[in-house]
Amino acid sequence: MSNQIVLTGDRPTGALHLGHYVGSLQNRLTLQEKYECFILIADIQALTDNFDDPTKVKFNVHQLLLDYLAVGIDPKKTTICVQSQIPELFELTTYFLNLVTINNLERNPTVKHEAEQKGYDSIPAGFFIYPVSQAADIALFQSELVPVGEDQLPHLEETNRIVRKFNRIYGVDALKECQPILSETKRLVGTDGKSKMSKSLGNAILLSDNNDTIHQKVMGMFTDPKHQKVNDPGDPNNPVFEYLTIFHPDKNYIEELKSSYSKGGLGDVKVKNILSEVLIELISPIREKRIQYSNDMFMMTQILKSGTETARQAAAPTIKNVRRAMHLNVLDVLG
Ligand code: TRP
Repeated sequence: MSNQIVLTGDRPTGALHLGHYVGSLQNRLTLQEKYECFILIADIQALTDNFDDPTKVKFNVHQLLLDYLAVGIDPKKTTICVQSQIPELFELTTYFLNLVTINNLERNPTVKHEAEQKGYDSIPAGFFIYPVSQAADIALFQSELVPVGEDQLPHLEETNRIVRKFNRIYGVDALKECQPILSETKRLVGTDGKSKMSKSLGNAILLSDNNDTIHQKVMGMFTDPKHQKVNDPGDPNNPVFEYLTIFHPDKNYIEELKSSYSKGGLGDVKVKNILSEVLIELISPIREKRIQYSNDMFMMTQILKSGTETARQAAAPTIKNVRRAMHLNVLDVLG
């Protein structure tokens, strides 16, 4: 066991899909065996662009928890906590806001891109500053390792800038800098072959999908448009083969399939049937566990409660140091 702390977070905005599975969940299963791990369900961050739909956010807190438990994240090994129930996070965010400038935040490429996608004519302040609240998420738990996708790198850079500034100005080493853990599998392409898998783009296979839905989605997947007849040579550089390479246990077999597809003689339907079977085998047990856990609301609430309690206890010494460093301990008799 290393003594470095791993923390990551998810916005509760939708059920998780295969892209999350290969991009982050599998990684977290390995990490929880080696490190003290925290997963923060970032409901406050989700509200920054969903403040008009709080019931969706609440619903998805539970959906996320179900996905975690179903893939094997173990609450005994990984502390699963809820952002909105940890007031220390809001406190640290407030202190951090003094240490960032509007200019710096404006340059954050991820926020810029997201704001453009949302088509804001004027960006809500809460959304604009969410990287600062994310910096607090990371720093409050003294996390040095943060498993994230590439789009999150600007937020980690911002976190480290804030942490360095904090330690420099207040003359302490109260907070730790962090580094990303990027997952090996790059972002998974969607079933349409166009962009990364995303529920809102309608090109995702969910961990909660039933077998028929999985089959239908696979049958509708994009392949090589030039591969019209079975005997035409096909380009295996398409999402169906990409998924097979990732999810099929027998890599040699997939290489053979690829070469017969390139030569011609292997039909799309046959390849898709193979993929559909592999994905159903992967997702069925996850979905079954999901259903089992979803029938036990009491247990789910207990997991979130005790995870959040553990997280607050872990954060207590840090927030105390921060207050002392900032001379905010005015009510302490010994100062
Ligand atoms: N911004 C992250 C995302 O959209 C979620 C997140 C919130 C997070 N707090 C975090 C990630 C802390 C890593 C560390 O995926």
